[in-house]
Amino acid sequence: MPAVTLNGVQVEASQGTTILDLARQHGVWIPTLCYHPELSLNGSCRLCVVEVRGSRTLVGACHTPVAPNMVITTDSPAVLKSRRLTVELLLASHSGNCWSCDKANLCELRHIAVELDVGPLPITLRKPFRTLEALGAHVVRDPTKCVLCRRCVRACREIKGAGLLAIAYRGFSCKVIIGQDDADGDAACESCDVCVGVCPVGALSKRADRFVPKTGQPLVVAG
Ligand code: FES
Repeated sequence: MPAVTLNGVQVEASQGTTILDLARQHGVWIPTLCYHPELSLNGSCRLCVVEVRGSRTLVGACHTPVAPNMVITTDSPAVLKSRRLTVELLLASHSGNCWSCDKANLCELRHIAVELDVGPLPITLRKPFRTLEALGAHVVRDPTKCVLCRRCVRACREIKGAGLLAIAYRGFSCKVIIGQDDADGDAACESCDVCVGVCPVGALSKRADRFVPKTGQPLVVAG
């Protein structure tokens, strides 16, 4: 049971626990996007960064195991600055039409932006135009809302066992593709909806559920 310091408080952690797990056990909020408890670790979004004394860089809480005598700070100015910048960059390339988005107040990105006090960007950005795409017979993709967290890619491979999705291209063109990204790329998709269930934003939705009132607990507190 390594003893570590979490935000100035000495706590005990079980062997193999990650910083994220430890923080959650003690009610400390760390934002995550690519992390999902039912999926393998990916460490791609960098939203969960924390400060660890002695480390020259911020470390990802979701994939870093605690070590004896570790001194962890989850809310230092450097941590918050890094997280805010990450969210700003995500919002900069995000569709931005939250008011008409099917995910609305259930959107994890929106929730994180509110928690970190990141508002609309003060600049206008050119964004690539992308149309809605079908994913099998029952799923609709909106690539303008994708945050490239790869949860859907991992869910398709690890939960469904199909492995039909992948990340392809680079820069502005980077996106989730199905199959070879050609006309019949989704022929093997059974529209099992596993990918829809893990999407943190409104990039994936079931055709039948679009614009139907959602019953989930709203994540964003108004005000
Ligand atoms: Fe840790 Fe994405 S949640 S890197």
